[in-house]
Amino acid sequence: MTDPTESARHAFAEGTTPPGSGHDREPDALTRQVLSTVRGDDERLRELIGGLVTHLHAFVRETRPSEDEWLRAVDFLVRTGRACTERRNEFILLSDMLGLTSAVDDVNHTGPPTMTPSSVEGPFHSPAPPRPMGAWIAEGPELRRGERAVVHGRITDCDGRPLAGAVLDVWQANDTGLYDSQDDEQPDGNLRALFTTGPDGAYWFRTVKPASYPVPTDGPVGELLRALGRHPMRPAHVHLRVEAAGHRSLTTHVFAAGDPYLGSDAAFAVKDALVAPFAPGDEDTARRFGMDGPFLQAEFDIRLAAAPAAETGGTRA
Ligand SMILES: [Fe+2]
Repeated sequence: MTDPTESARHAFAEGTTPPGSGHDREPDALTRQVLSTVRGDDERLRELIGGLVTHLHAFVRETRPSEDEWLRAVDFLVRTGRACTERRNEFILLSDMLGLTSAVDDVNHTGPPTMTPSSVEGPFHSPAPPRPMGAWIAEGPELRRGERAVVHGRITDCDGRPLAGAVLDVWQANDTGLYDSQDDEQPDGNLRALFTTGPDGAYWFRTVKPASYPVPTDGPVGELLRALGRHPMRPAHVHLRVEAAGHRSLTTHVFAAGDPYLGSDAAFAVKDALVAPFAPGDEDTARRFGMDGPFLQAEFDIRLAAAPAAETGGTRA
């Protein structure tokens, strides 16, 4: 049987420097040595791990963490894992707070400039009840306290042609910044809905204006935010996900214009094209959408890019 220690000694003897003599090693010799072990049949895995090793090693050479700092980093990751539960994913939160989730979103959702930009899904999506177009989605105490609002727009392709049969999934926090899953006062499915568009591609629903809210700060990610002097707030928003035949699905937000946290969203998800005013509604709008008393109205059109098969002309009519 081969002694692994002996094998390692032979491997190092073949032109590389043994471990423990880092001061003798060329700056990137260790990186090359580790990269030489990135093998296997999965080409994409080799690309990802190879890139990760290359960048992590460069990070260490650049920042020169002490061994104590390294152990603190490992402890932080262990505690991040331990903070995860069925209802809470502290690692996703860490990814969000470092802008990594938004970076992954950006590289995966490029398209025509007229397409509505995507934005991260966030941790609060859950299956929503189908509702008739125009329904009230606020069914909890927020309807008595909050600012009533109608959110409306059209779902079209990138040339402005309406998309019939598009399914719009919406979810939002209430007037105190809580989702139904965080708040015993809200019925299940509150401030959530699935709508299906008709031939005009129009959508509209009645609700209350959502409030800005903090991400959870009672775990290791909260510690990190405090250590960095960062606030945990997300600007007020409604989440939207749209699916339509022949088109790329879109997950995005509409953010309330004027929110004080638009320029410093803790999750780095704001894009200019996703900001819309919640403006005082007028009489015409009140009649059109069946609103009584003071209310706000937000208009947000959604333009979907054609699906890849349609883009190549394969299935486009
Ligand atoms: Fe949210």
